[in-house]
Amino acid sequence: MSYLQRLRLDGRVALITGGASGIGYSCAEALAEMGARIVIADLSRDSLDVAVAKLGGEARGVVMDVTDSARVTEVADQLAKEGGADILVNNAGIARSETPAETVADEHWLNVIDVNLNGTFWCARAFGRHMLSAGKGSIVNVGSMSGFIVNRPQGQSYYNASKAAVHQLTKSLAAEWAPRGVRVNAVAPTYIRTPLNEFADKEGAMYKRWIDSTPMARLGEPEEVASVVAFLASDAASLMTGSIVLADGGYTCW
Ligand code: NAI
Repeated sequence: MSYLQRLRLDGRVALITGGASGIGYSCAEALAEMGARIVIADLSRDSLDVAVAKLGGEARGVVMDVTDSARVTEVADQLAKEGGADILVNNAGIARSETPAETVADEHWLNVIDVNLNGTFWCARAFGRHMLSAGKGSIVNVGSMSGFIVNRPQGQSYYNASKAAVHQLTKSLAAEWAPRGVRVNAVAPTYIRTPLNEFADKEGAMYKRWIDSTPMARLGEPEEVASVVAFLASDAASLMTGSIVLADGGYTCW
């Protein structure tokens, strides 16, 4: 098979959580362009409808809150009846940045861990079961450079902890499932230009510090994360499992 052919995803089905916005939407575009049939999962029917209309083709949208493990299992089982998902992108995530650790409320901590870590696990477990039965599948988790470093200057201990946990979960699942044909990898992006970062004033000191801390001296674009996710999802990454791939403009070099 040619190198280019290994990037093709024809005949495969990919489910992307949080696929109506930002990085998840770009992942849907990338995987669709490589030939996959797309199912995006997100919180609201309205946002899904808009995204599905933009994606065109055979894309579908399903309302699924990743923190609702029963709903996640229901969607995975339903898709399995229709042939199953070959690719899962665990992208749904929230940040709720800028709260110092000593003032974080229980609700705040639990909410971020629930979406970013529990949600990733519920989805990996529910879709992973079917992939294991099929003896094949590729899961890509969206981690963060915040799983490796501590962001400055904003406090976000809960977010950083959740993403470090996603990285370790990635490796744990990869090791358990590698002998049964299911690969599990993660991408760890720097600051990306999406709604998640809109809390930062582009003229402000925090934003300047982000840029000054980045060798490439810029934010990333959602497409620049999606291309890494697409590579990891494809057979071009057939020897990769348990990898946490940084896409950080050099941020972690300093
Ligand atoms: P975004 O806010 O643009 O999109 C997140 C999407 O996830 C939204 O469509 C939202 O409705 C959905 N979502 C939120 N909670 C959900 C839930 N419980 N169930 C299902 N869907 C849910 O954010 P962005 O920036 O595209 O983030 C995507 C992922 O990338 C997140 O995991 C985030 O932590 C990660 N990331 C983002 C970075 C950034 O600078 N934007 C940097 C590093 C990682």
